[in-house]
This record gives sequence, structure tokens and C-alpha cells, in this order.
Amino acid sequence: MFRISQYMQEILSPTPLGPKRNPPGPVVIWNLIRRCNLTCKHCYSISADTDFPGELSTAEVFKVMDDLKGFRVPVLILSGGEPLMRPDIFDISRRAKQMGFYVGLSTNGTLIDESNIDRIAEIGYDYVGISIDGLRETHDRFRRLEGAYDASMKAIRLCHQKGIKVGMRFTMTQDNASELPDLLNLMEAEGIDKFYLSHLNYAGRGNINRKDDVILKTTRWAMDLLFDRCRDYTQRGLHKEFVTGNNDADGVYLLFWVRRHFPHLEDHMRAKLAQWGGNSSGVNIANIDNLGNVHPDTFWWHYSLGSVKERPFSQIWQDTSDPLMAGLKASPRSIKGRCGACRYFDVCGGNTRVRAHQLTNDPWAEDPACYLTDEEIGVEGLGERLRNRPYSRIPVTSAK
Ligand SMILES: C[S@@+](CC[C@H](N)C(=O)[O-])C[C@H]1O[C@@H](n2cnc3c(N)ncnc32)[C@H](O)[C@@H]1O
Ligand code: SF4
Repeated sequence: MFRISQYMQEILSPTPLGPKRNPPGPVVIWNLIRRCNLTCKHCYSISADTDFPGELSTAEVFKVMDDLKGFRVPVLILSGGEPLMRPDIFDISRRAKQMGFYVGLSTNGTLIDESNIDRIAEIGYDYVGISIDGLRETHDRFRRLEGAYDASMKAIRLCHQKGIKVGMRFTMTQDNASELPDLLNLMEAEGIDKFYLSHLNYAGRGNINRKDDVILKTTRWAMDLLFDRCRDYTQRGLHKEFVTGNNDADGVYLLFWVRRHFPHLEDHMRAKLAQWGGNSSGVNIANIDNLGNVHPDTFWWHYSLGSVKERPFSQIWQDTSDPLMAGLKASPRSIKGRCGACRYFDVCGGNTRVRAHQLTNDPWAEDPACYLTDEEIGVEGLGERLRNRPYSRIPVTSAK
């Protein structure tokens, strides 16, 4: 996750570098249920409106929470499927809050209405993220349900009215990228305080439909737009958060933007960004799926590190006998191709390993979605880019 607004603030009022502070435990994104009332085109969890047997019971969830607390996990993001379809979601959420976790709810918003908004407000979620993947027509097509956009926007407004911190989450593909400027305007018009741009990751239906990923030029355009908007808000003293996920090259691209607009701050920003260090799947980000399997992040459902039904999360997470976990926890990671040779490797950490794995079966290959040019990252003459091969020629490996 890359917090653009934090770095914009840094440009406005630079702070001393200071020592790197590591979080006490990983942020855990927890898919409590796989069932969902939508069947979005890009969904990594391949969710649908059907029962998925073997999910963790309430008692099992509570037991895992105790272990997570003991392991000093600071943040739980409750997700799915659609988490609001779990009958015990409010019991789980209430207990998580009582235990002192920062608790986020990741929802499509379509099930939030007047009948449950007070209960949601009472829980005291620290953040509610609601997915909006385009304007009405595009969103409904992408999320494959007519009326989904209106229901989700209504949910955003209800949360906002109740004083809940709510944000829009937008996954960008060729289907919806052109509507990004309109969504940013909508964010302003609705007084929404957070915008999360999720780059497409190649998992589940997002992998099956990876041919619909944006071209690299579009990613650059989108990031320029976010940086400019964020700078504008920061300069006006308005607190709006802009965050991105699934493409750690965003940090390097921001450095180039700083070089253009604030050249005197380039060295300072480089040091700050290197301290961030880019991709932290398997280190500061963790995932538990609906069945209790632990993964380095939400996009690794085809690779299990172990089940919380058999071993505590805290043990699974520290076990580097697993080769993927050992590689992700290595510092620096050992990555091949243009990522390994990149002069900004210290900033982005080699980006998203899942995409490399899905395309080549090698988790340590270069990330095909890095949108920086060879010239920019100093790797000219390295040979053909993975991304330049026609995607259709690389078979889609199905999730286990
Ligand atoms: C799996 S959903 C679960 C929560 C809820 N059902 C929702 O849609 O917001 C969590 C978030 O991941 C995003 N997402 C799903 N598949 C993705 C993919 N392949 N790449 C990037 N983001 C993805 C969704 O758009 C959503 O914002
Ligand atoms: S992205 Fe969310 S709303 Fe869409 S199918 Fe997946 S879990 Fe459901």
C-alpha cells in the first residue's frame, strides 16, 4: 500500500528522516466469508452467491483473534466475499474493537441501508471502504448487477451522514480507467475523504481477465492525475487521503514527479521512500482466507502457508521453511529481470510477486505491470520485457 497523501504532506513540510519504525505485527486482511451477492469481473476470491463449506465458525474466528492480539497484530480489515453476508459479522467486529484492534470493513456497500446503518455506526469501525468501479453504467457492468452503483453510493452517503470514516475503492482496468477523473470529482462533490486506487492484480477472475489490464501509459496518466489532485488538496489545507495498492512502482513514479516539480526535495524524498521500501506482502501484510488458510497477501489464494485450523497464525507467519515465505521475508528480496536490475529497487522492493508468478510460474521473475521505462530505471539493453509478450500466449494457470 502506498500512501500518496503522506508523501505530499512531506513535500509541504519535510520532516527529519529518523530511524525506520517497523509495525509490531502484520496488518491482517481477513476474508471471513467467500459468499457474495455480486460476481465482479475482476474478483480475486472468485466469489458468488453460494455457500462455501468449511468456513471458520464464530468460535474459531474468536480463537484466531486471541492469537493475533498476542502476536501484536495492530489492524484487522474484515473482508470477503461480502462480509455483511456473515450473520455474525457484528459480533466479530464488536469483539475486535473491544480487543483494541484498528478495525476496517471492506464491503461492496450494497447491503448497507437504513435498516442496519445504526448497527454499523455503533460498532465504531475505524474505516469503511466501499468499492466503486466506475460511474453507474460502468460500475453495474463491471460488478454484474444492475442497481449496484446506486446501492453502493447510498451506502457511502449513509456512512458519511453517521460520521463514519468512509472511502471509495476503485480497481482500474481498461473497462473503467477513463472514468477516473469523474470519480475524483464525485469524491469531492460527496465530501468523501479517502480514495483508494487498486491496480489490477492477477488473481482469481482478475487473472482470468488479465487481458483487460490497462496499458502502462494509462497507469502513468492515472498516477499523474492522483498526484496532481492530492497536491491540490494538500496545498488548500484539505485533508483527503489518496492511497494506492498492488503496484509499488507508484513510489518510484512519485519520485520522478517530485524531481519535476520540487527538484530540491528529490534526495530527501528518495531517502523517505527507500525507508518505506515498497512491497511488504508476507512481511507487514497478511491474509487469512474464509477456510482459515494463511497467505502472504489476498492475491495468493493459490498458495497456502498453512491453516489456522491446524497451527496458530503466529507460528505459520514466522515459519520460513516455506520457500515463498523465506523469499518474501529476505531483505533485500532476490528478484530477477528488470526488477532485479532496477536502480530504484530499494524504493519499490521488486513490486508485486503474484503477477510474476501467474505469468511465469516463477514468483521471483520481474513484475510485468511495472510501468516505468527501461531508460528511467537504468536497465536498457536487458532484453525483451515480460510484459511485451502477448498475454494470450501465456496460459492462465487456474487457482487451486
Ligand atoms: C474481494 S473484495 C471484498 C469486499 C467487497 N465484497 C468489495 O467488493 O468491496 C475487496 C477489494 O478487492 C478488490 N479486488 C478484487 N479483485 C481484485 C483484483 N484482482 N485486483 C485488484 N483488486 C481487486 C475489490 O474491488 C474490492 O475493492
Ligand atoms: S469483488 Fe467483492 S463484491 Fe465483487 S464479487 Fe468479489 S467479493 Fe463480491
